[in-house]
Amino acid sequence: MTLRRTVVGGLAVLGALTLILGVSGGVYGLTVARRGFSAREAPSALEAKVARAARSFSMPAGARELKNPLAPLSPQALAEARAHWADHCAICHAADGSGQTPIGQGLYPRAPNMRATPTQDLSDGELYWIIQNGIRLTGMPAWGQLHEGAGNNDSWALVELIRRLPRLGEEELDEIKAALPQSRHELEEQRIEDAFLEGQ
Ligand code: HEC
Repeated sequence: MTLRRTVVGGLAVLGALTLILGVSGGVYGLTVARRGFSAREAPSALEAKVARAARSFSMPAGARELKNPLAPLSPQALAEARAHWADHCAICHAADGSGQTPIGQGLYPRAPNMRATPTQDLSDGELYWIIQNGIRLTGMPAWGQLHEGAGNNDSWALVELIRRLPRLGEEELDEIKAALPQSRHELEEQRIEDAFLEGQ
């Protein structure tokens, strides 16, 4: 008798759960059908949290504890890291790391403000792992293949640069901005402007 009761009770709970899941799934499905998936919306707080947790989970054990073998960087190495950042990263992450570029803000998820705590709270090892391996299902590319040639030192130098983003000086920022890739059209405009200023 008690066994039968337990079974019936269990089935009832299972049925209720299925109903709840079915209804919420249906509501979600209808919302998607009505609005579609657009990268113009920002991910919800819940989605961002789940994605970040999944990302942290997907890192191999030990990655977090890796120490930067280059620290402290020489002024020369830091200057190279700034040029590298300007060339490969700033198109999405912006010269100052704020993520405020047309491409960075058009991605889903958005390029984050790397000067803020969520990024700065990541360990050196985590930053390095992300630069080497990218982040799946986002706009963040893996740079490992490119950086292998230089013994992966480029990735470690960028980790140090990211650490410095929150207190980047005016001069360093100007240096990065001056190194941003320019199109042929922009270069031609610059040439005409310079010629004009020289009175030609
Ligand atoms: C095509 C755009 C794009 C380029 C180029 C790019 N990134 Fe990213 N990056 C992203 C996006 C989008 C994210 C956020 C992904 C997410 O939310 O999980 C990101 C995240 C990161 C993060 C993790 C920050 C955090 O708090 O989640 C690091 C570190 C990073 N990028 C470093 C770099 C470096 C260094 C370069 C250049 C070598 C670079 N990225 C180039 C788009 C880009």
